[in-house]
Amino acid sequence: MKYFLDSAKIDEIKYALENWKINGVTSNPKHIKNSGKPFYSVIKEFANEFDGIEFPISVEIDPHISNTEEMIEHAKKIAQLSHNFVIKIPCNEQGLIAAKKLTEEAIKVNVTLVFTASQALQVGRLGVTYCSPFIGWQEASGVDCTQLISDIVAMYRNYDFDTEIIIAAVRNGKQIVEAAVMGADIVTAGFEVYKGSFEHPFTDKGLKLFQDAWDDTELGSL
Ligand code: E4P
Repeated sequence: MKYFLDSAKIDEIKYALENWKINGVTSNPKHIKNSGKPFYSVIKEFANEFDGIEFPISVEIDPHISNTEEMIEHAKKIAQLSHNFVIKIPCNEQGLIAAKKLTEEAIKVNVTLVFTASQALQVGRLGVTYCSPFIGWQEASGVDCTQLISDIVAMYRNYDFDTEIIIAAVRNGKQIVEAAVMGADIVTAGFEVYKGSFEHPFTDKGLKLFQDAWDDTELGSL
């Protein structure tokens, strides 16, 4: 399963690429706002920094746009900035029409804000590059999304769709593992979520135990 970093912070993206072998990035307007920099400066930085490597970076169109033609126009303007850019389009009827047309013109699309299997089915039928079901928002309100993930994976396998499934808004290691067990192609999560998923208090406790044993052992010579 591929790991994408959900972030607009160049420093953490570079760190995670170099040290954690992440396979791509998903940004959204909220992440870019949190970077404290202008929207277009951030995406131009994305374009320059990762030019020359194969590294998909999802960038969202202006979320105020509700009309298909304008979505397509904005998507094309963003897409021409980098071969790595994948355009995030919202999962509503106008967005899905835009996603279909952009895909027909070989522009990579990530359909975002997907919450149901029926939405994901249409995304897969259109053959766009990525479909992003958000699980963290629903799980925070007590909804178990494991069935949603396995239904989407099963449908995509039944019909051999080319679209890759990005399990998004992932909040912890348990959700990462569930996505992997169900056979999702990709998860996208924040920097701290991945970091937390690599660690365990027993690992620290065990390390301390072994350090104490080491200190109490005569080492001899190597
Ligand atoms: C994914 O592509 C989204 O950017 C992301 O997961 C949005 O949700 P969050 O910011 O609540 O994690």
